[in-house]
Amino acid sequence: MWKPRTIALDLGREDILKDLTAVSDSLEIGLLVNNAGVSTVGPFLNLTADQLVKQLYVNARAGLILAHHFGKKMVERKRGGIIFLSSASAMCGRPIAPTTQEQKAYNLIIAESLWYELGRHGVDVLGFMAGSTKTPGWDANAPKPNRFVKVMDVKSTVAEALVALGNGQV
Ligand SMILES: NC(=O)c1ccc[n+]([C@@H]2O[C@H](COP(=O)([O-])OP(=O)(O)OC[C@H]3O[C@@H](n4cnc5c(N)ncnc54)[C@H](OP(=O)(O)O)[C@@H]3O)[C@@H](O)[C@H]2O)c1
Repeated sequence: MWKPRTIALDLGREDILKDLTAVSDSLEIGLLVNNAGVSTVGPFLNLTADQLVKQLYVNARAGLILAHHFGKKMVERKRGGIIFLSSASAMCGRPIAPTTQEQKAYNLIIAESLWYELGRHGVDVLGFMAGSTKTPGWDANAPKPNRFVKVMDVKSTVAEALVALGNGQV
């Protein structure tokens, strides 16, 4: 019977592979979803440089390291999938959340690049530009009252990502 395994891991840490590989090395990881993200809304200069770097580590560096680690094994097996969470807001900068957009743009571009490079070896890669989706993070940052016309539910957003995987780079 299929048994999930979990590991609590701070992706803002310097060494993220050590504890993870202790759990994952014996498994065939078929799909990597680089979903974890931190979104800080507020003036750029209100955050310390350390906070900004930690955010960068979680939002971009972790996905890069994980895609390299698991992507290598997927290419050897000639199959697998990697999803990088980008965002509908990745296409331009905007004030009060400058680092989040920039890191979502990074995820989009690296996904496009790897889609081509790893795709030739049977590994599907997707840069997923999620729209507004009702999650705890969205609730915490959404303007109140909510003036968004539509917010997607998590199930629909996830379904769109999985359908899109293997059908184009973005
Ligand atoms: N919701 C939206 O409207 C929307 C739109 C576009 C893109 N996205 C992207 O979708 C992804 C998920 O967002 P969400 O809305 O679900 O956000 P969320 O509700 O705030 O959830 C963030 C997730 O990231 C994990 N995380 C945060 N910091 C971490 C760290 N240092 N190490 C390990 N895990 C960490 C959290 O784990 P814990 O629960 O353990 O803290 C949580 O599971 C993000 O990449 C976000 O940028 C979301």
